[in-house]
Amino acid sequence: MRAVPAALSVVVPTFKEKDNVALLVQKLDLVLSGIAWEVIFVDDDSPDGTSGEVKALAREDSRVRCLKRIGRRGLAGACIEGILSSSAPFVAVMDCDLQHDESILPRMFALLEEGRVDLVVGSRYAAGGNSALSKRRDAISRSATSLARQLTGVSLSDPMSGFFMIRRDCFDPLAPSLATDGFKILLDIVLTARGSLRIHEEPYRFGTRQHGESKLDARVILDFFGLLLAKVTGNALSTRFLSFSLVGGLGLFVHLAVLRLSLSAGLSFPSAQTTAVLVAMCSNFFINNQLTYRDKRLSGFGLLRGLAGFCAVSSVGAVANIGMATWLYAQQPTWWLAGAAGAIMGAFWNYSLSTLLVWRVK
Ligand code: GDD
Ligand code: MN
Repeated sequence: MRAVPAALSVVVPTFKEKDNVALLVQKLDLVLSGIAWEVIFVDDDSPDGTSGEVKALAREDSRVRCLKRIGRRGLAGACIEGILSSSAPFVAVMDCDLQHDESILPRMFALLEEGRVDLVVGSRYAAGGNSALSKRRDAISRSATSLARQLTGVSLSDPMSGFFMIRRDCFDPLAPSLATDGFKILLDIVLTARGSLRIHEEPYRFGTRQHGESKLDARVILDFFGLLLAKVTGNALSTRFLSFSLVGGLGLFVHLAVLRLSLSAGLSFPSAQTTAVLVAMCSNFFINNQLTYRDKRLSGFGLLRGLAGFCAVSSVGAVANIGMATWLYAQQPTWWLAGAAGAIMGAFWNYSLSTLLVWRVK
């Protein structure tokens, strides 16, 4: 006999959520009775063995699936791949940590099935919704939300929500244009769709995390501004570029600090400047490896090769920067214009080649 195909895929990105997996499956089982559902955990090779836990459950229950990604990180990318791995006509995305209230899933499903809406968003801030976050986190979340709404013009009450359900035929055409490196996948979907989606917001109470810890705290701000930047500039500038530029800016401070120290230590100016260049280059490389290219992080021998490649690319970048600035200055002697043009060109050069050759982002 053929098994009933799933009408609803619930995609759950996971990173270090071992203790929450079984609990979530139990909750889905209770609340989704009457709907042919499946759950797809997209795990980025969590060191705590989350995927092993999921696979153990999957051996008992064919509605549970595991998509394990190796050598990659990123919430939005995980969600996108999870959604694309299923063929169900309706897909939901929710967190694994039980902060998203699963009891509104049947209502979200019913609304989509009726066919009057394309996307249902679980909202903390719609009338009737609320959040169990601490006062401080809730305030941060609310200000980021209002900023996102003002800058992007979306009218959603909770554009940063990671809890939503969408029709597959609406999602699939948007998928190639979505950013995989950020975490605001919903905001990205809505902006990319340019008003073509019929959206309904369903209020819920954002709960407290049961086990494990939040992974987004430190990176939220950077990712968030990166996504806004990408949208405002029509994808010309990405989150990665923003991060790369910030690291470059930081590198200038490192450079000056080392220069100062080396001069005080009695080095001649040329040796002090050379030391500063080398230290700044290495520090930029390691910070970029941790932050800008965290999803492609190099290690072991690759780390050494990467460092050498990065230094080579940056040296050529520096020559290009100086050449450009000198040429411009000869045409039109405005120091800051020539200097800035050289720096911008150097940044683009370094960024493009590092992305392509050092971290090999396709
Ligand atoms: N596969 C994968 N890869 N999953 C990840 C990654 C990653 O790199 N980082 C986080 N996750 C998973 C977590 O395991 C969890 O299931 C979910 O994504 C959300 O991560 P949390 O660390 O719990 O995020 P949060 O609670 O701080 O953020 C929540 O609130 C935001 C709104 O302010 C999430 O619901 C976000 O989606 C939401 O935007
Ligand atoms: Mn969470």
